[in-house]
Amino acid sequence: MTGGAQGIGEAIGRGLAAQGATVALVDIDLDLAESVAADIRHAGGDATAHFVDLADRDSVNSMVETVLQRHGNIHALINNGGLDAQPGLASDIDATHWNTLIDTDLSGQWWCTQAVLPNMKARGYGRIIFMSSSSIYIGGRTISPAYLAAKAGLVGLTVGLASQLEESGILVNCLMPGPTGNTGTPMDPEDVPVYLAEHPLGFGGTQPLVDSVRYLLDSTGDWVSGAIHNVSGGRLRGR
Ligand SMILES: NC(=O)c1ccc[n+]([C@@H]2O[C@H](COP(=O)([O-])OP(=O)(O)OC[C@H]3O[C@@H](n4cnc5c(N)ncnc54)[C@H](O)[C@@H]3O)[C@@H](O)[C@H]2O)c1
Repeated sequence: MTGGAQGIGEAIGRGLAAQGATVALVDIDLDLAESVAADIRHAGGDATAHFVDLADRDSVNSMVETVLQRHGNIHALINNGGLDAQPGLASDIDATHWNTLIDTDLSGQWWCTQAVLPNMKARGYGRIIFMSSSSIYIGGRTISPAYLAAKAGLVGLTVGLASQLEESGILVNCLMPGPTGNTGTPMDPEDVPVYLAEHPLGFGGTQPLVDSVRYLLDSTGDWVSGAIHNVSGGRLRGR
């Protein structure tokens, strides 16, 4: 569970652990991830926390090695962590901004996927979920095009990987969340009325995403692959 220290990743980690899964919460904020893992263990669940910087391939490889040593196998990879909805105007995007977002929000998801594939392939079973964003179809007044490019890249990864991995028993899918509200990194207060105006069902919180991940990881998802799941509270329609 990447980005498991807070927000959507924390909620999914807690939800899966409550169902009996062993959860490895990996995040750049190790202290926060460890406090969530400790809380899960205190409640009777099984969770560990591990450091990773998604933008650093060596860090990802070392995290996956540690998780495999600790837990033996990786049944599912939830590629959720990263820099959410970063602000950025086209006129101001420099190489640092571009590279940081592509490295963290696109390459990092690929490094994680590449690192878990040998274990999944050896067992002929795996589930991989990417966390994209409904914003890739909508854009935004202040949202960085680099963020949207990275998140759109996850759709390409989903389709490309699904078509190559299904025969190995590995199913790859993508979630397109709408705005959850202040569930992790606080929203810019100026964005709140803008989102609400275009989004009559309001903010969804994290539970719809927890439920979607459960659906995909359970036997309900055994015939679902290469899907781009609209979980946006009606923000996206017809996609
Ligand atoms: N919350 C929303 O409304 C929303 C909407 C659409 C898409 N998303 C996507 O869902 C995912 C989770 O969103 P969230 O709201 O929980 O975000 P969040 O900012 O609350 O949490 C992201 C987590 O990723 C971690 N992280 C950031 N950079 C990292 C790095 N380099 N290496 C490892 N971990 C790193 C953070 O420490 C944090 O724990 C993100 O990919 C986001 O883009 C969220």
